[in-house]
Amino acid sequence: MTALMGARIIGVGSAVPPHVVTNADIEKLVDTSDEWITARTGIRQRHVVNEDETASELAAEAARDAIAFAGIHAEEIDLIIVATSTPDNLYPSTACMVQAHIGARNAAAFDLEAACTGIVYALSTGYQFIATGMYKTVLVLGVDVHSRFLDWEDRNTCILFGDGAGAFVLQATEENEFLSSYLRADGKGGHLLWIPNAGTAYPHQGVAQPRPTHRFLQMNGRAVYEFAVTAVPDAVRTVCQKAGIDIKDLDYIVPHQANQRIIKAAAERLGLRLEQFITNIAEFGNTSAASIPLAFTEAVKRDLLPAPSTLVMVGFGGGLTWGAAAVRWTAVDKRKSETAINKTQEPISGIIE
Ligand SMILES: CC(C)(COP(=O)(O)OP(=O)(O)OC[C@H]1O[C@@H](n2cnc3c(N)ncnc32)[C@H](O)[C@@H]1OP(=O)(O)O)[C@@H](O)C(=O)NCCC(=O)NCCS
Repeated sequence: MTALMGARIIGVGSAVPPHVVTNADIEKLVDTSDEWITARTGIRQRHVVNEDETASELAAEAARDAIAFAGIHAEEIDLIIVATSTPDNLYPSTACMVQAHIGARNAAAFDLEAACTGIVYALSTGYQFIATGMYKTVLVLGVDVHSRFLDWEDRNTCILFGDGAGAFVLQATEENEFLSSYLRADGKGGHLLWIPNAGTAYPHQGVAQPRPTHRFLQMNGRAVYEFAVTAVPDAVRTVCQKAGIDIKDLDYIVPHQANQRIIKAAAERLGLRLEQFITNIAEFGNTSAASIPLAFTEAVKRDLLPAPSTLVMVGFGGGLTWGAAAVRWTAVDKRKSETAINKTQEPISGIIE
């Protein structure tokens, strides 16, 4: 068998729309309370797009952030993969729009859809292109704008989701830091979490005059909860086994940010400390495919995810889908190291003058 190339994450980035919707704001829309939402989910607020903002623009902003972190030029990117369930349009793909926005003129580009697990699928897919030697630099993005598909009169769903984007830059290296991935699907559970009437199954059965139909996200919250508290430990255990890592040696878990209670239950089942789980759900809610890179980037920027670390990213969601990726995290923000270099150079140039 041909030797595989290694890959490492060299940059992370994120973007959220500026507009914040608090639990108090939602109290004005549906029969709920800040106490109920906080106690049942851990969510206190979420960011929501305005009429003009789009998934592709959010993704492009996250991409620019990650590219700057990595200290590369957009022209160096060979491939852009965007995980999203809420693209700007059916086509062109959101990835193509991002490619144009950021000027990645040498990159191939495609979208991938695995709902909230999409980013784990996309990372794993990006890694395969590097491992085979086909590409050197791959930009992997997760973006979702679920606010456009929420029924803001349905208290079961509108409390949960926020909009956002997150990015990883993967690059080929000799020493592999993408340790393993594990991807699963169970299409029989598709009806538990879905957005009907937004694809070609509508209009139904060749009806000539389409009838107005709701195209809002629908969810069986209890069933999805039960699925998640089993799927997360399954994915973490299996990906560690595949990578040859003892779970006890993991530094951090970056889980999909759907519900703080799901994260707590998973920590208990895995015998890990809750502090090892990176969470920002209180501030952003469930941003679907964006939630893992958004939590990752936020944690790195707040010095809560130091390098080097060994960590697992774990996702679950519509499909049903679930999966995990085990990685070493060793990157440094090139913007910070450049500032440090400039600072040390300043006095020297002063002396020369
Ligand atoms: C949605 C979720 C928070 C609901 O929490 P729960 O503890 O399961 O609550 P239930 O659905 O059993 O509802 C309990 C009660 O609260 C009520 N309720 C539901 N939503 C409410 C809200 N926003 N505010 C106030 N009360 C609410 C219900 O009507 C029910 O009332 P009843 O007992 O009088 O019938 C929880 O099931 C969950 O997080 N599921 C997973 C969802 C998820 O992660 N989806 C995305 C996956 S990617």
